[in-house]
Amino acid sequence: MFPVIRQQLIAALSDGQFHSGALLAEQLGVSRAAIHNHIESLEEMGLDLYRVKGKGYRLSRPLSLLTPEALAAEARPAPLHLFWQVESTNGYMLERAKRAVNGEACLAEMQTSGRGRRGRTWVSPIASHLYLSYFWRLDQGLAAAAGLSLAVGVVLCEALESLGVEGLSLKWPNDIYLGGKKLAGILVEVSGQQGEACELVIGCGVNVSMPESIANRIDQPWADLSGEWEIPDRNQLARAILTHLDQGLLAFEQEGLAPFVERWQQRDQFANRPVKLLLGSQTLEGVARGIDQQGHLLLALPDGTVKRFAGGELSLRARD
Ligand code: ATP
Ligand code: BTN
Repeated sequence: MFPVIRQQLIAALSDGQFHSGALLAEQLGVSRAAIHNHIESLEEMGLDLYRVKGKGYRLSRPLSLLTPEALAAEARPAPLHLFWQVESTNGYMLERAKRAVNGEACLAEMQTSGRGRRGRTWVSPIASHLYLSYFWRLDQGLAAAAGLSLAVGVVLCEALESLGVEGLSLKWPNDIYLGGKKLAGILVEVSGQQGEACELVIGCGVNVSMPESIANRIDQPWADLSGEWEIPDRNQLARAILTHLDQGLLAFEQEGLAPFVERWQQRDQFANRPVKLLLGSQTLEGVARGIDQQGHLLLALPDGTVKRFAGGELSLRARD
């Protein structure tokens, strides 16, 4: 449970103006010492704050907080769950999977255990980025979900492009890059028995405005959207992603990956570039040749053959 006092404190500071400790204490009905302690906790969660003697506290930049009203501005029939803090929005949706309906989604202002592929951590500071998980039940079963993370990559790019973001590219199988650096990641998790309908949770993490104090926790080049708009409106961004996912998942359910392949190739970060493919302790070098109709990676090897690779335990890296 995220304390109400911290919610109120963030809301008060979100305008990016100075607020004196004394006034905040009075407004929120607590002591100045309590305000100070909560401010320290919020800094640990990723808020970049300045303190100036005689003026008080100020955020390094204004925040657009997620609100149920702003998120509902475009009517969608499926439920939307909004939290201040969860371990992982994917974890939350997986727990709801049995009773969830298609298009049901969860958003949180922060994740305490945001996850990437293969147990990696997704760095999830408070009120800075988007952490969104989207539910879909695929009646055709697990085999029909192959290639879904590629389709979702296209959907996310198109959602961002619809808001004017340029320079996006896709790295097989699940990353979105901006200017050659990682902007967003996709984690598709599945529950359900073999041979039955499968329950899909599609997790999307999109960096909107990276707090300076948190950036060094990420061990690879990253990007965010903060250069694109004055204050990136995360509600608008979430709405665009949700409506694009609604359309995208319907198309994927009916036609599979086929309608997405060409759109994926157009944004391929590594098209015709020298790459290496990490397969556990083994490394294969070659030239990336895009994907096939099933979403396999095509790699031209030095012996002149082209080999296909399915997702799973593989990682693609540049070899420039
Ligand atoms: P691959 O999937 O090809 O192995 P990857 O190294 O990006 O590539 P992922 O599991 O897809 O691995 O993503 C998790 C990684 O993403 C983390 O290990 C970290 O390097 C990076 N990362 C974590 N949080 C963020 C973030 N908020 N923004 C950008 N990158 C992040
Ligand atoms: C990756 O690049 O490995 C995927 C990162 C996926 C992060 C998102 S944030 C919302 C959802 N909840 C999680 O715990 N992970 C995904």
